[in-house]
Amino acid sequence: MIHHGGRVEVICGSMFSGKTEELIRRLRRARIARQKVQVFKPEIDTRHIGQKVVSHAGQDLDAMPVASAADILASVDGDTTVVGIDEAQFFDPALVAVVDELADRGLRVILAGLDLDFRGEPFGIMPALMARAEDVLKLHAICAVCGEEACRTQRLVNGSPAHYHDPIIMVGAEEVYEARCRQHHAVPRD
Ligand code: TMP
Ligand code: MG
Repeated sequence: MIHHGGRVEVICGSMFSGKTEELIRRLRRARIARQKVQVFKPEIDTRHIGQKVVSHAGQDLDAMPVASAADILASVDGDTTVVGIDEAQFFDPALVAVVDELADRGLRVILAGLDLDFRGEPFGIMPALMARAEDVLKLHAICAVCGEEACRTQRLVNGSPAHYHDPIIMVGAEEVYEARCRQHHAVPRD
């Protein structure tokens, strides 16, 4: 079975919103439809050693860790029809053209990534991917403070909100991050 046309789908949202779970769900369904699926993730994501994408809830799927967007293009097999990419926010700007190229060739490309960094600013290439995608899904987590829907990710350093000028990239999970709503998301600037 092959697709009738390529497309790009983006799954975005804060941490703990279920992005990787949704990516895994779509890729499993593609496999049931006898698509040839390949999954990639940036090498930077050291949380899960080895070759898997893993959701916070513990679901996993085999994935190839790659150092750059160019490595994805070089690693896609000729008979692959669906490409999944997790942690898309960590990739270099070349990913935007790579994803377009794959979709132009007729592949379905599904990306999951953080729309916002801990400061609440758009994360890297995510806005460019979202603008070009045929379909964008924005997922929400639950605010750790009030229980409302959360659209932001709070970084905590020794229990206190991280400063606006802290480095953007810091791999981690529950020990440093929690989901927060707009009202309870705090980013001290001085
Ligand atoms: P997740 O979206 O699958 O939960 O993973 C997000 C990863 O991104 C996690 O390793 C923490 C990292 N991260 C940053 O490096 N900078 C940030 O500003 C935020 C919010 C997360
Ligand atoms: Mg994830």
